[in-house]
Parts: sequence; structure tokens; C-alpha cells
Amino acid sequence: MSKKRIFFTGGTGKAGKHVVNYLIEQGHKVMNVDLTPLDHPKVDNLIADITDSGQMFNAMSSYTGLDELELGNGVPKFDAVVHFAAVPRILIKPDNETFRVNTFGTYNVIEAAVKLGIKKIIIASSETTYGICFSDGKTDPKVLPLEEDYDVNPMDSYGLSKVVNEKTAQSFQRRSGFDIYALRIGNVIEPHEYTELFPYYFKNPEVRRRNAFCYIDARDLGQIVDLCLEKDGLGYEVFNAGNDHNGAVLPNKELIERFFPNVPISRELEEHEALFSNRKIREVLGFKEQHNWRNYLKWD
Ligand SMILES: NC(=O)c1ccc[n+]([C@@H]2O[C@H](COP(=O)([O-])OP(=O)(O)OC[C@H]3O[C@@H](n4cnc5c(N)ncnc54)[C@H](O)[C@@H]3O)[C@@H](O)[C@H]2O)c1
Repeated sequence: MSKKRIFFTGGTGKAGKHVVNYLIEQGHKVMNVDLTPLDHPKVDNLIADITDSGQMFNAMSSYTGLDELELGNGVPKFDAVVHFAAVPRILIKPDNETFRVNTFGTYNVIEAAVKLGIKKIIIASSETTYGICFSDGKTDPKVLPLEEDYDVNPMDSYGLSKVVNEKTAQSFQRRSGFDIYALRIGNVIEPHEYTELFPYYFKNPEVRRRNAFCYIDARDLGQIVDLCLEKDGLGYEVFNAGNDHNGAVLPNKELIERFFPNVPISRELEEHEALFSNRKIREVLGFKEQHNWRNYLKWD
């Protein structure tokens, strides 16, 4: 795998810190661009605001650290941009602010990357684009499993901001011909959260209906981002980023009967296969799950 110089936004956050660590373990050089720094010995931090276009152009044409001054060849170019910075759900900030930060921020990051000639851009979209997670009341998906060709139409400001971001990415891809991949990230689980959260979820499976029982291990998300960095030539693509199985003990037959009895099922499903399908990342990117929840929790 080639080692890349990566401009990473939002690397201090819950998902970003694990993904950044994974990328560093693969030998990449990472500059974390965030409002607060990440405490990692191998990460260079730059404090910058994604909603400020000037800061994004400037930061993206910057040295990552003092060590790069020693090369004496001017500022090196970034090979790739990974954009995770965002307001990560509704009800943290007012809806209009969530929409503003996420859509303007993503526009600024992608525009700067494309105009500076950075030919690989990966952005964090979300499972919430499918419109079940933050819907008013209990809504059904149009079909299961959730796959990337779904006609997404969420009713909340966060999910909408991610749909807009996917459209922004598609538009810039069309203009530039560069590779821009959007990851519809499932519910991110950090290593310590299996024992902290999953027992409650298993005793109360209804609380996971809004996520269609999905999860993505934060380290497996690192693998997905790394595979996207490696895979060139796809143009604009959307990928669900989830683990192989549901984050549930019940088999699909029972989950569907209890929680989605009126939803059409588009194809045969394995007993525990994720209803938030990760088939595309397995088939197109070669994703191989390393961190199934069953590795961390015994449950009968
Ligand atoms: N956590 C999940 O389950 C989940 C699921 C689906 C998608 N996502 C997406 O993945 C990405 C990362 O999510 P997370 O859970 O790590 O969120 P987080 O809130 O933990 O991290 C987001 C980071 O972005 C930074 N940030 C926010 N506004 C910024 C700005 N204006 N300029 C620069 N930096 C800014 C924050 O300081 C923070 O470090 C987000 O795009 C989120 O929407 C997360």
C-alpha cells in the first residue's frame, strides 16, 4: 500500500481519533484539522474552522509540521483529504446551525481540495440519510436491507445536511473527474463501548430500531477509509460503512417480524447479516471485518 500525506478534518472526534490512529499505523502521514487538537505523538494538529473557506484553502496548502521545513522544497502537496468534521447529530446545536456547519463546511473542504488539485477526497456521510434514525415517530424504511441505491429522503436537519453533502461531492466530482467517495457511516462503536452499551441494547432491542441495528467498529472504519485511499478510479461513489452483522442477538427473521413486519425484503438474508448492508464495501473495496461484536462480548 502506498503511504500518503493526508489532510484529515475532525480527527479529534469519537470516530476520527480511531481512524487517524489506524491510518498512522498503516504508515500514512496525517495532519488533523479540527477546532481542538488530538493528543497523539505522531499527529500534527492545525486548529482551523471548516466553515471558513479561506482557512480551508490556506490549511490545505500548508506544511503539516516543522519537520517539513527541513526538506527545503517548499510546501509538499496533500495526496488525499478525509473529511469527518461536523456537528454529528441533531439536538446538539439548533437545526439551522447543524445544517450550516455541515453543508458549508463540506462545501469549503471539497472546493478547496478540488481547486488545489487533490485528487482523492473521502467524506463522512451517515446512515441517517436513510431517514429512519431521526424521523418524527416510528417510520418504516422503504425496503430492507438498506443499500446504497436507496432513494434517500430524511426529514431532519442533520440527515438532510448529509444528503446535501453527497450532492455537493457528486457535483465537484463531475466538474473535476477526481475520486470523491462518501461513506454512509453506521453507528460508531469504540472498543470500550461493547461492554458498556451492548448489554443494554440486547435487553432492549427496540432502542436500536432507528439504526436498523447497525454498528461500525471505529477501527474497522479506519480500514474502510484506508481501502478508499488505496482504491483509485471510481469517480463518485457512496458506500455504507458498517460491520458484517447486526448489532443484535436476535436473528433477522425475528428482528424483521418484530420490528419491520410491513417492510419489503429485497433479497435473501443470512441469519445475522446486517440490515444496513455492507455488501458494497466488501465487494468493491475488499473490506474484511476485524472487529465483530462477538469478539468482545459473550451473549447467549
Ligand atoms: N458517531 C457516529 O455514530 C456517526 C455515525 C454516522 C456518521 N458520523 C459522522 O462521522 C463524522 C465524525 O463523527 P464523530 O462521532 O467522530 O463526531 P465528533 O463530534 O466526536 O467529532 C467531530 C469533530 O469535528 C470537529 N468540528 C466540529 N465543527 C468543526 C468546525 N467548524 N471546524 C473544524 N472542526 C470541527 C469537532 O471539534 C470534533 O472533533 C461526522 O461527520 C459525523 O456526522 C458519525
